[in-house]
Amino acid sequence: MVDYETHDYDVIVIGAGGAGLRAAVEAKERGLRTALVCKSLLGKAHTVMAEGGVAAAMGNVWPEDNWQVHFRDTMRGGKMLNNWRMAQLHAQEAPDRVYELEAWGALFDRTTDGRITQRDFGGHRYARLAHVGDRTGLELIRTLQQRAVHLGIDVFMECKVLRLLTDDDGRVSGAVGYWRPTGEFIAFTAKATVLATGSIGKSWAYTSNSWESTGDGHAMAVWAGADVIDMECVQFHPTGMVWPLSVRGLLVTEGVRGDGGVLRNSEGTRFMFDYVAPMFRAETAETEEEADAWYEDHINNRRTPDLLPRDEVARAINSEVKAGRGTPHGGVFLDIASRRTPEYIRRRLPSMYHQFMELAGVDITAEPMEVGPTCHYMMGGIRVDADTEAATVPGLFAAGEVAGGMHGSNRLGGNSLSDLLVFGRRAGIGAADFAEGRTGSPQLDDGQASAVIAAALEPLGRDGGENPYQLHHDLQQTMQSLVGIIRTGPELEQALEKLGELRQRADKISVDGGRAYNPGWNMATDLPSMLTVSTAVTQGALHRRESRGGHTREDFPTADPELGKVNFVQRQRVERGPDAPIEIGPEPLPQMPPELTVLFEEAH
Ligand code: FUM
Repeated sequence: MVDYETHDYDVIVIGAGGAGLRAAVEAKERGLRTALVCKSLLGKAHTVMAEGGVAAAMGNVWPEDNWQVHFRDTMRGGKMLNNWRMAQLHAQEAPDRVYELEAWGALFDRTTDGRITQRDFGGHRYARLAHVGDRTGLELIRTLQQRAVHLGIDVFMECKVLRLLTDDDGRVSGAVGYWRPTGEFIAFTAKATVLATGSIGKSWAYTSNSWESTGDGHAMAVWAGADVIDMECVQFHPTGMVWPLSVRGLLVTEGVRGDGGVLRNSEGTRFMFDYVAPMFRAETAETEEEADAWYEDHINNRRTPDLLPRDEVARAINSEVKAGRGTPHGGVFLDIASRRTPEYIRRRLPSMYHQFMELAGVDITAEPMEVGPTCHYMMGGIRVDADTEAATVPGLFAAGEVAGGMHGSNRLGGNSLSDLLVFGRRAGIGAADFAEGRTGSPQLDDGQASAVIAAALEPLGRDGGENPYQLHHDLQQTMQSLVGIIRTGPELEQALEKLGELRQRADKISVDGGRAYNPGWNMATDLPSMLTVSTAVTQGALHRRESRGGHTREDFPTADPELGKVNFVQRQRVERGPDAPIEIGPEPLPQMPPELTVLFEEAH
């Protein structure tokens, strides 16, 4: 029997990136006892990797812009797999959330007449990204963090949550975890729990994600019996660093292309022109005429093919490298030096300038960068009600990257920051409403908490078992090579087999030392999430026998209109025990109402 400290709240928010912070602010402002629990230091979140801006149809640069166009771009970018209601709310509310952030102290770059300026990004018809140079995510986190501290929200940082707790009625009633520095255990009871744990990228070898992104929230939701949707939809950002190897995958913001940078292969050719029309013919348009109309529309509206949605650019880069037209280190060239002045580049892209100068010895004002796709973002996630962010298990809410639906099969750049502001706020409201309506205080189930703690301690009690770092390495190699940017049925089958072996090996992990300051043990406690999530991604990828957005099947290279009408839903039947398989099946997408479908007809 291991002791643990206990805390009781109305609302706990797990994850302190933008979505978690925004949710906690909302619940706290409602006067609820609110805690923010994060596995890293407060302010250290993947949100900062959304560098280039927050997408919102404010119309400051292009007065023609409005929520309807943003909605349409988002749905098209997601290849219509998006939850239409989420995309609608997002487009409608994003401008207010940006102005609110400004009122809370965020400093945005300005137009010459003093309004928040907006830059181009892939798939957005108009320049729509409010930004602070190439440090927008950082500014957003800084502002929200300041707000949270000002409101006096209780913050539990460096506190890793292992599992959600449920009551006898199946409602989520809190969580159990441990303090990473000391290894001491901690349990929370809460009337409502918001998951805002972000991404899953650490299961791939090349990723823009840092160590926190191990899919804890996705996995904990599955283990609690909640539905997750479209887990196969993983975004590979087209431009990560490819060299030096120690920083391979580190993000190179789309803002470089938004500000005029172009992609070239080793022959100096701007290869994206070769991909644009055929791609749309294959992927979206059902007729030649439709494809031509789309292409014309984009070209006539000053679109450059370098700024196509991310899935398309990433695939094109992949093809160029495969065809032997890559750079010495296996990427392509991203050139802004020949198109903008050094002063402009240093002013607009200061982080990129320093990143390349310091890490690669490359002066981006004079030389091209070498870039290639990097695992960046998870479109799939916890199935939520669009208006309240309630998951399918009562008492549980989800916002930001851990929630599915908003971005369909491919997210447009800049829509992540607006997503986490819009739905972070909504999740805070949803959780607060639920907590206020929940009668009585949830009781801590010591049996559940102790079982979680006992399982977490197992690796420390074993000798001569599997090394957690070796297991992580093998997982990353499996996901990178078999469930990467281009997938095939046989490779996915192989991946599932390997994941099964990895799960068995994970049961034999052993870790030396004690609980305090033990990174090996921290890794051991991250692996169950990574393995669950990787299995769900692979299973989803096997079932979606088509290519759509971020999910590309070489053996099913086109979009299947029938599969475009369904989410692949995965769930574990918890009543069948912890080893119950994760089941998967298609379920119809929510039906878009006529007043919105008409927007797509008008566009043609
Ligand atoms: O390229 C970027 O700056 C990333 C933005 C995003 O993922 O939204």
